[in-house]
Amino acid sequence: MKTTVLFMTLGGLLLGAASAAADMHADTMALAEEKQCLSCHARDDDTPRAPSFNSIAAKYAGSEMHDYLVDVVLSGGEDHWGSATMPEPGERPAVSEEEAKQLVDWILGKHQG
Ligand code: HEC
Repeated sequence: MKTTVLFMTLGGLLLGAASAAADMHADTMALAEEKQCLSCHARDDDTPRAPSFNSIAAKYAGSEMHDYLVDVVLSGGEDHWGSATMPEPGERPAVSEEEAKQLVDWILGKHQG
């Protein structure tokens, strides 16, 4: 599938770009699962452990908080949503800056549907 998309994109087909975007979405969700983000954060419902990604997207929609959120994903955070704490890496799988940016783009992108 990836090879096909790559092939089509290389071939200069606009259609290829569209499926690449869909692939990116699925890849990021797999990354969120791999990094155990989804074990605390649900996508749609706030859980006792953590706010849902949709709630986070709604709270920060259109704001300049992208870098701040990347920081939280990299190093953890607390006190924005109640008493629960997002742990530092070490207590959860480490995330690279690149991965954190990708995850935040994905989380914020959810708000637009
Ligand atoms: C052990 C549970 C847990 C895991 C694992 C976890 N989170 Fe969180 N996360 C939380 C909690 C709890 C909060 C709310 C912290 C607060 O109140 O500031 C939070 C907050 C956030 C926020 C919003 C921060 C804010 O200040 O509003 C983002 C974005 C986020 N998490 C992304 C992620 C991503 C991406 C991953 C995976 C790399 C992840 N989280 C893994 C529990 C977790």
